[in-house]
Amino acid sequence: MRVLVIGGAGTIGKAVTAALRGRHEVVTAGRSSGERRVDMTDAASIARLFAAIGRVGAVVSCAGDASFKPLTQLRDEDFDLGLRSKLMGQINLVRYGVDSVADGGSFTLTSGILNRYPAPGTAAIAVVNGGIDGFVRAAALELPRGIRINVVSPPWVSETLVAMGRDPSGGLPATVVAEAYVRSVEGTDTGALLEPNGTRSLVGAE
Ligand SMILES: NC(=O)c1ccc[n+]([C@@H]2O[C@H](COP(=O)([O-])OP(=O)(O)OC[C@H]3O[C@@H](n4cnc5c(N)ncnc54)[C@H](OP(=O)(O)O)[C@@H]3O)[C@@H](O)[C@H]2O)c1
Repeated sequence: MRVLVIGGAGTIGKAVTAALRGRHEVVTAGRSSGERRVDMTDAASIARLFAAIGRVGAVVSCAGDASFKPLTQLRDEDFDLGLRSKLMGQINLVRYGVDSVADGGSFTLTSGILNRYPAPGTAAIAVVNGGIDGFVRAAALELPRGIRINVVSPPWVSETLVAMGRDPSGGLPATVVAEAYVRSVEGTDTGALLEPNGTRSLVGAE
């Protein structure tokens, strides 16, 4: 299967790409990394990517920014970042990409646990993650031609905690997180929130 991985050069994306390569033809994309250029904050850029790439069996998004800041320090632009990048960027991958996905193909988006298990400093990203989870649950009801859609909701990734100078023991290695993406691409789930520790729930049903 041909699989397009947006953010394939990132911490999670590299592990996802490695897990899929060998069994699938993987094409990676990013603003300045990967085999194709795309800026998911720009709908025209997404449309150009799909026009250039042709038909794919799966689209995986491991990309999108959002702000971490204490509630009282969050400015309009902090909310805008998450809404434009991680939320609408991923939604637009589905909206602009659906005609490029083969019958029975799939989308896999990324949210994160911070809407369900928030901590101080996560209000802006919690909004975004909750929006993605809700979008996936609703979009699964309407995608045409048997196309599936799921969201992977990773906890902290160990490699990210190390990069932040924090104790990695509270996180999961990117290779383990990647298994949830593989399950979404190769399995039969749709409308599912996939947690990298192996659990699956209907999005928002917790
Ligand atoms: N790491 C964690 O602990 C963790 C936990 C839960 C959820 N998440 C979520 O998982 C996603 C990936 O996290 P990560 O840690 O792997 O991030 P990362 O290491 O920063 O990698 C992000 C990747 O996405 C690409 N990207 C970023 N903005 C983009 C844009 N506007 N258009 C196209 N590509 C873009 C980057 O490539 P370019 O710079 O070349 O564009 C890069 O390849 C994020 O949405 C994050 O919120 C991460």
